[in-house]
Amino acid sequence: MAKRALITGVTGQDGSYLAELLLAEGYEIYGMVRRLSMENYDRIEHILDRIKLVNGDLLDEYSIMDAVSSVQPDEVYNLAAQSFVPTSFAQPMLTAQFNGLGVLRWLEAIRRLKPDTRFYQASTSEMFGKVREVPQTELTPFHPRSPYGVAKVYAYFITVNYRESYGLHASNGILFNHESPRRGLEFVTRKITDGVARIKLGLASQLRLGNLEARRDWGFAGDFVRAMWLMMQEEQPDDYVIATGLEHSVREFCEIAFSRADLDYRDHVVEDPEFWRPAEVHHLLGDPSKAREKLAWEPEVTFEELVAMMVDADLERVGREMKGA
Ligand code: NAP
Ligand code: GDD
Repeated sequence: MAKRALITGVTGQDGSYLAELLLAEGYEIYGMVRRLSMENYDRIEHILDRIKLVNGDLLDEYSIMDAVSSVQPDEVYNLAAQSFVPTSFAQPMLTAQFNGLGVLRWLEAIRRLKPDTRFYQASTSEMFGKVREVPQTELTPFHPRSPYGVAKVYAYFITVNYRESYGLHASNGILFNHESPRRGLEFVTRKITDGVARIKLGLASQLRLGNLEARRDWGFAGDFVRAMWLMMQEEQPDDYVIATGLEHSVREFCEIAFSRADLDYRDHVVEDPEFWRPAEVHHLLGDPSKAREKLAWEPEVTFEELVAMMVDADLERVGREMKGA
């Protein structure tokens, strides 16, 4: 019988790649979606006929309990979250509810209704924040720098706690930044590649960005969802850093992205304090040795390939939109 996976956040970047992967692995897939005034299935339109949608919201424990009862999932991937760091400063309560207590609601529902369900929590390198060591491993202490990061630390530890207290198969993937042509337009990589396309095609001349010196360990989302699945197949639940082990600055991202379109970023990028954060995470670099050794996981797409993939996709999309197609 096919395994059943329930994915929260299926309409998001990672949810869409994970759904594709699990379909290829022969899973029966349920995606949890919340009610919006207009459907936003753009990222999963191409697979909508092969997945089943269930209604629910991280804020509503009854909808989560109903989902567990009706789907009887073998694996739950909890990817849903308020995922944009600046919004967490503007809406800290909502972020704590979604990203912190939302995870507790899932763990409680599983513990009470189907305790043999395997649970994946989308933890994050943002928990390392003001980093205590370089590179960061599973043993590096956390020092989050945003309400987003603080809520994710709660989520991380409540996941560990339910594993230790109740024996749940609950694992944290501590994922470093991962990107793709499906990345939301507000995140810096996609903002840059969309900006490159608009400038190249004559729709804009400037791109206003914040801190160009911030450094991140950027990988490809398609590679990173494979790590989520691999850790759920392990007999023992555990926590893993998922990263490429290489870092670049926002400035370097700009340089490569603009040159992909034969442009010089120095002619177009304007530094704007509007995009500075109340507390910045200056530098993140992961050490994925444990995932490499235990899960045999390796990223396949290089940084340069990722930037090229994103620029090319945005050039194609913006060009298509200009033609009205
Ligand atoms: P994303 O594109 O922003 O997707 C977030 C998803 O969460 C969307 O499907 C969204 O649904 C859903 N969601 C938000 N609030 C919800 C609620 N109250 N109830 C139900 N669903 C809700 O994020 P992503 O980049 O795919 O990231 C996936 C997860 O990994 C997130 O938990 C994020 O914090 C974490 N993470 C991401 C990265 C990264 O670099 N991408 C790194 C580490 C960890 P709507 O479509 O309805 O808005
Ligand atoms: N968004 C944005 N916009 N970021 C900018 C800009 C800008 O105009 N200019 C500079 N940056 C810098 C930010 O200050 C930050 O240091 C870095 O670029 C990356 O910002 P984001 O792309 O917004 O990502 P993030 O690192 O804050 O958070 C992402 O990665 C986390 C994992 O480390 C999100 O996907 C989180 O959900 C995820 O947990």
